Amino acid sequence: MDLQNKVAIVTGGASGLGLAACEALVAKGAKVCIFDMNREMGEKAVADLGQGSACFAEVNVTDEASVSAGIQVCLNAFGALHIVLNSAGIGPPEKVINREGEPLPLANFKKIVDVNLFGTFNVLSKAAAEMAKGEPFNDDNGRGVIINVASVAAFDGQIGQPAYAASKAGVAGMALPIARELARYGIRCNTIAPGLFRTPLAESLGEKVIEALGNSVEYPKRLGDPKEFGKLVVQIAENDYLNGEVIRLDGAIRMAAK
Ligand SMILES: NC(=O)c1ccc[n+]([C@@H]2O[C@H](COP(=O)([O-])OP(=O)(O)OC[C@H]3O[C@@H](n4cnc5c(N)ncnc54)[C@H](O)[C@@H]3O)[C@@H](O)[C@H]2O)c1
Repeated sequence: MDLQNKVAIVTGGASGLGLAACEALVAKGAKVCIFDMNREMGEKAVADLGQGSACFAEVNVTDEASVSAGIQVCLNAFGALHIVLNSAGIGPPEKVINREGEPLPLANFKKIVDVNLFGTFNVLSKAAAEMAKGEPFNDDNGRGVIINVASVAAFDGQIGQPAYAASKAGVAGMALPIARELARYGIRCNTIAPGLFRTPLAESLGEKVIEALGNSVEYPKRLGDPKEFGKLVVQIAENDYLNGEVIRLDGAIRMAAK
């Protein structure tokens, strides 16, 4: 897919990895519509990316009406849809049994799965239905690509990550069945499983913790640069033969139990 003038929805695009992906896509000539609950950061991102290249929709990915309205904002602004990157996610760590010996309330577990897994499906399904109506843009009858964001926690989840790891394993697990189903429309589906990245959350931990975390990576011994995530998003979108895959982007880290 040639990214010039293609249109992308990026959930969680106001911050961190999603924002870095928006920058990488716009640098390749694509237009991005940011879906995020944080209006202030979303509007700042649009101003930085350039009004002609980006727009913002205040969307809660867990809400069906909100996502449908956001897709209309994207279509009204840019007239088409070719790429969806699902980067909105949450992950406060909580153990199965807390210090007082009480079990994790089911509502807390459900909230993480709701945003990370159900929110991802909510956006991709509604976006795919729109993409399927679009005009093919290449000889392969290509109409678009869905890129979901899991985590290495999908495979090596740590203590305190039962909900987060389960939600991300769900995201990783649906790449292939979705790719198989949407093949007839020329829509690909891939998943990125990031390791440890230097996002605003990591920055808040301070240099000593950042260095220690970096040392736990096999090579290179540092946290990932969000720009490296953006590069992979661009590559997945551009490379039409990449489909149904889950790609770890993690410097070969294998997370320890804690
Ligand atoms: N940063 C890392 O090292 C890392 C590692 C592995 C996986 N990931 C995954 O990558 C994704 C992005 O992480 P990040 O570090 O950039 O996070 P971040 O907190 O910087 O950005 C996430 C964005 O999602 C938005 N968001 C949260 N809930 C939402 C909802 N219900 N609807 C719409 N928007 C919502 C937030 O407002 C925020 O702007 C997440 O799915 C995360 O689990 C991150």
